[in-house]
Parts: sequence; structure tokens; C-alpha cells
Amino acid sequence: MCAFLSLPLCVLCASLYQVALITGANKGIGFDAVRLLAEQEPNTIIYLGSRTQDNGDAAVQKLPEAARKNVRVIILDVTNDASVQAAVARVKSEQGHLDVLINNAGIASYSFDYQSAKDTFDTNIYGVKRVTEAFLPLIPEKTGHISIVSSEVGTWAHYYSPAALQKQLEDDNVQFSTIDKLAQGYLAAAKDSNHAGIENFPAPASSFGSYGFSKALVSTYGRLLGRDLKSKGIPVLLSTPGYCATDLNKFSGHRTAAVGAASILQVLKRGVNDSGKLFLDDEDQGIKNDTPDYVKAMNGNPNEKK
Ligand SMILES: NC(=O)c1ccc[n+]([C@@H]2O[C@H](COP(=O)([O-])OP(=O)(O)OC[C@H]3O[C@@H](n4cnc5c(N)ncnc54)[C@H](OP(=O)(O)O)[C@@H]3O)[C@@H](O)[C@H]2O)c1
Repeated sequence: MCAFLSLPLCVLCASLYQVALITGANKGIGFDAVRLLAEQEPNTIIYLGSRTQDNGDAAVQKLPEAARKNVRVIILDVTNDASVQAAVARVKSEQGHLDVLINNAGIASYSFDYQSAKDTFDTNIYGVKRVTEAFLPLIPEKTGHISIVSSEVGTWAHYYSPAALQKQLEDDNVQFSTIDKLAQGYLAAAKDSNHAGIENFPAPASSFGSYGFSKALVSTYGRLLGRDLKSKGIPVLLSTPGYCATDLNKFSGHRTAAVGAASILQVLKRGVNDSGKLFLDDEDQGIKNDTPDYVKAMNGNPNEKK
């Protein structure tokens, strides 16, 4: 939002947004999102989230020179309260507000063991909540945007969830306490030597280990937050970059990170009427989908619909 005229599109600085922050932006899709946003909105201050200053600085050096002008590295570990609070304090003191928050940082564990599932949930679910709630007071009503990079893998985990679980995920009145209970139930099954209780959740083999369920739960969080922030006029948009070649999947994806980055930026033009919807290349993906043929071909279709 323009601080001078209180307009989303400022006629003086010709910028859609004055200040944006992208978490996990030192590489992969987040990095390309910084690059594209810097090119599309040359007057926007863009905070490039990185867990370390060195990785952030190295990323800035890889940007085309013209795109570097308004990009600032911000140290931000989404799993660490002190790190998130320090990032909020810095943006507040330097800008006073944040127009666009893109929750992009994520990790993927495709196995099913307690520690990797816990790390995945801490980053992909609790990290997104921590960052979003901490920055929320800086996000202007009516013109601010929150976006969460989820994944189509979450829609597959949702589809392959038992009916009782699907019902909870689809409850229009869902609260974070339900998401927390489900995440903790899944972790308890991962910790148990016989994985007792895993039958209440999507089978890890059908949902890329804990990654798929982490994304099903963060999408549910996006829907509940979108619902709760509608009256303030702050859209909460879910996006997915599609299957892109990045570190996350050992560069096996069939799209480039740049194509994925364009997909996660496209949602920013949307408003509260699209809150909680998941978009890929500007198309609403719905909340549950069977795995596409290319995944079945890759995995030998381990899915068994419950
Ligand atoms: N690639 C795909 O096919 C695909 C498909 C669907 C959705 N996505 C989603 O897209 C997002 C970006 O993934 P990517 O493919 O670009 O992966 P990536 O290349 O591995 O990049 C992930 C980024 O997240 C950061 N990160 C990890 N843990 C963090 C933490 N605790 N705090 C802050 N930053 C952290 C990483 O920082 P470090 O360098 O410090 O580790 C890195 O900058 C993720 O949310 C992912 O789930 C990806």
C-alpha cells in the first residue's frame, strides 16, 4: 500500500505494493519469486528471507543488477520465535508496515519417521502460523495480502485421508486446535514402534511421507485464516508452484523454479473472495484431488483409497 496516498496502486511510485517479504528466498522458488517481483515492481522494497546472512547475500549477488536495488536480506528462521520477532521488529522500524507476506519457506521429508515428520510440521505448519501471526499487525487492512505456498501434494493427502479426517479438514468452522490435534496425532503414530493410529491418517506411501499431510494441514490453516481475516479485507491466498526442479526434490521436477515462482506470485492479484483457495498457474485446484498419472507412473500407484 502506498504510505503517502493510502492507495493500493500509488500514482507517485507506480507500485502495486510498497513492501513485500518472502520467506525461504535464498534459493529455489522463493529466490525466483524475489527476482520476478523485483522486475515486475521495481519500486517495491522486497525482504529476501534467509536463515543466514551469508546465504542471503550470496542470493542477492545472483540477482540481475537492476533487480538488486530494493532487495534486502532479512534473517528469518520460521521455526524460531526470536528470529521471527527480530524480523518483525526490523520491518516495523524500517517500513512501519508490510503489504505482502509470502510464506514460502518449506522442507520436505518423504520418509515416515518421527523426527523428520516433526521437523516438517514445525516448518511447514507451525512455522507458517508463527510468521503470519507475528507479521499480521503490520499488514494493512483492505490492501494487505498474505499468501501461503502450499502444494498439490496436500490435495492428494487430503483425498487419500479417511472420511472422518476429511470431514474435519473440510469443516467450515475448523479451528487451529483441530489442526494441532491432527498434527500431534500423526506425530504420535510416527513415534510409535508399530505406527499405531496411522490408519486414521493418509498413508505415508500415498502422500510423500509426512510432506503431503503437512501441506494438507497448512492449506486447512490457510482456509481458516482466510475466513477469519475476510472482515478485515486481508486475503489469504494459497498457491502452489507445481512440480519444479529444486533442492526440495533433488531437482527432479519437470518445471523450472521460475515458472513455479510466477505461479506463486499470480495469486497476489486476487482478493478476499478467493481467500483459502489453492491456485496453480492461476487455476483453482480445489482442496482434494487424486494423484495425477505422472505420479502414479513414478510411484507405481501405492494409493489405496480408504
Ligand atoms: N519444488 C516443488 O516441486 C514444490 C512443489 C510444491 C510446493 N513447493 C513448495 O514451495 C516452497 C519452496 O520450495 P522449493 O522447492 O523452492 O525448495 P528449496 O529450494 O529447498 O527452498 C526452500 C527454502 O526454504 C528455506 N527454509 C527451510 N527451512 C526453513 C526455516 N526453518 N526457516 C526459514 N527458511 C527455511 C530454505 O532455506 P535454507 O537454504 O537455509 O535451507 C530455502 O530457502 C516450499 O514451501 C515447498 O513445499 C515446492
